[in-house]
Amino acid sequence: MLYGGTQNRRITTKDLQVAKDNGQKWPMITCYDALTAGIFDEAGFPVLLVGDSAAMVVYGFDSTIPVTVDDMLPLVAAVERGSKRALVVADLPFGSYQSSAAQALATATVFMKRANAHAVKLEGGQSVVEQVKTLTQAGIAVMGHIGLTPQSVHGMGGYRVQGRGEQAETLIADALALQEAGAFAIVLEVVPAELAKQISELLSIPTVGIGAGKDTDAQVIVWQDLLGMGSGKPAKFVRQYANLRSEISQAVNNWAQDVISGEYPDEQHSYS
Ligand code: KIV
Repeated sequence: MLYGGTQNRRITTKDLQVAKDNGQKWPMITCYDALTAGIFDEAGFPVLLVGDSAAMVVYGFDSTIPVTVDDMLPLVAAVERGSKRALVVADLPFGSYQSSAAQALATATVFMKRANAHAVKLEGGQSVVEQVKTLTQAGIAVMGHIGLTPQSVHGMGGYRVQGRGEQAETLIADALALQEAGAFAIVLEVVPAELAKQISELLSIPTVGIGAGKDTDAQVIVWQDLLGMGSGKPAKFVRQYANLRSEISQAVNNWAQDVISGEYPDEQHSYS
């Protein structure tokens, strides 16, 4: 069993493939630090994604575009140190792999050597096939990412559903090209559920959906969205399982009030 399984070795891409072959679904969650890595790892998540969504949820940018390799490396290293069992996937930031296969190899190598990443993820379909081939031939595990690819938000004309109408054929061709190039899994972001189902049935490798309906082999979510940490309106595909923003706010406010009133620290929390 992938989620919460008992083996105390790292999950491998092979385990994910076996899960697909057995029709077993699995969850992947984003993670950016050692503390949450420990929590998610103990809960049993087989894969932790150090997404470039860190640009927004860690660094406060309004898109994933500004985040750099130097910004991402310490986060990936922390997640790897904080986990024992999960496969840790590092997202390659915008501008760190698009220009050539050699650039992609150099960037992925840095993530593996300096941050101990177990796999890398990059965005794009047929346009990054050479990169994926070069990485996989070098022995690097690569996760693809197609559909809504946030690093191309300006090229796509905004965050919108991808793969409707005639675009569907391109997306199918992208998925097949990535699989052929050696990707071990592919994220499908914000695509029609029916198309995601079709791609998931067509591919032999696992698909990981986000806003892609119920028929992908796995699902991924940004943990701050899942647990209600954000202040804005969540995307349609997000189901919130907690409202941590208001819980944290209430708790720190309670402490602040106790400090102001002199109620904290009391004798119980002081040394004699
Ligand atoms: O950066 C990220 O968190 C991602 C996931 C949303 C798939 O790419």
